[in-house]
Amino acid sequence: MSNSDLKVIDLRSDTLSLPTSEMLTAMAGARLGDDGRDMGGKGEDPTVNRLEAIAANLLGKEDALFVPSGTMGNMIALMVHAPAGSCIAVGKDAHVYKMERGNFIEGLHGYRPVFIPARQGFYDPDVLDKVLSCGHVSLVCIENTHNYAGGTVLSPEQTEIIADVCVRHEVPLHLDGARVFHAAAALGVTASDLVRRVDSVMVCLSKGLCAPVGSMLAGTRDFIRNARGKRRLLGGQMRQAGVLAAAGIVALEKMTLRVQDDNSLACMLAESLADVGCLDIDTGTVQTNMVRVALKTQLTAEQFASRLYDEYRVKVGPVSQDMFRMVVYNGIGKTDIESAAERIRSFCKAL
Ligand SMILES: Cc1ncc(COP(=O)(O)O)c(C=O)c1O
Repeated sequence: MSNSDLKVIDLRSDTLSLPTSEMLTAMAGARLGDDGRDMGGKGEDPTVNRLEAIAANLLGKEDALFVPSGTMGNMIALMVHAPAGSCIAVGKDAHVYKMERGNFIEGLHGYRPVFIPARQGFYDPDVLDKVLSCGHVSLVCIENTHNYAGGTVLSPEQTEIIADVCVRHEVPLHLDGARVFHAAAALGVTASDLVRRVDSVMVCLSKGLCAPVGSMLAGTRDFIRNARGKRRLLGGQMRQAGVLAAAGIVALEKMTLRVQDDNSLACMLAESLADVGCLDIDTGTVQTNMVRVALKTQLTAEQFASRLYDEYRVKVGPVSQDMFRMVVYNGIGKTDIESAAERIRSFCKAL
């Protein structure tokens, strides 16, 4: 078989997930209004209001806000909690710092990062305690699952340890929970168990939950009222956004129930590649829907990815000079994973 006959298996990211047919039907039939018209803290779009109520309930928070992206959700949370120019405690590899640099650019919000050493996203509580006791940090950010650690999870107990330090120093705690439902599924707990002790949380409806657009920010009623104002400031206020919120409702009500399938397939993929000589997979980090792989070849991750695609039609996502990742999402099934593993093995054998 020539490789052009092979089905492309794209494992670069779960951001490639597509809206389900149930989402498309819900979008077409959504009741709409002007979400930008404020009626005592809520907009006039009934579907957005329903999505916000569902998200708040699922996350065990007083209120929630629909925002266009995870980046904007995190940015709004930072703006509500921390005055511009103040210090924010983050991990060096946190998405909020590494990829959402707008927060830390002088002339935008100008936040100053204070890096806390972390193991798979879990901060050393003693270091955090020492840093917060200096009194100049206005917010602590954590991430669950932790993208750059390879999708690793923080348990409710670990979150509690961090939250206790924050409470002791009266510093709020924000969670970048872009994939928190994957963490909950992996740990066998609910998402609300994982976010109980944080002051605010951002979760993505896109990515693993398959909505085409959107994220939720959740917290106290007061926090969300402030967040609504910041969203307008950033141009994130939408109008008939119910057309998107309708997909978000399916994401929260249906797609959260299936993410453990993705976690299990990622685990299967890691196990089936564990003995390939030129790949180094720390199976301990394969906890959710991602597999992070370090290369033990002369090829850079970019070269490896490019040749693997040219020769075997499998796409993987380079994350550094010598590392790539593979991510499982709805639409990637067991046979795709078996086939991807077989093709990667053949490719590596021929290197
Ligand atoms: C952990 C994490 N937080 C936040 C984001 C930002 O989400 P968005 O792409 O919707 O802005 C991402 C995106 O991949 C992410 O992985």
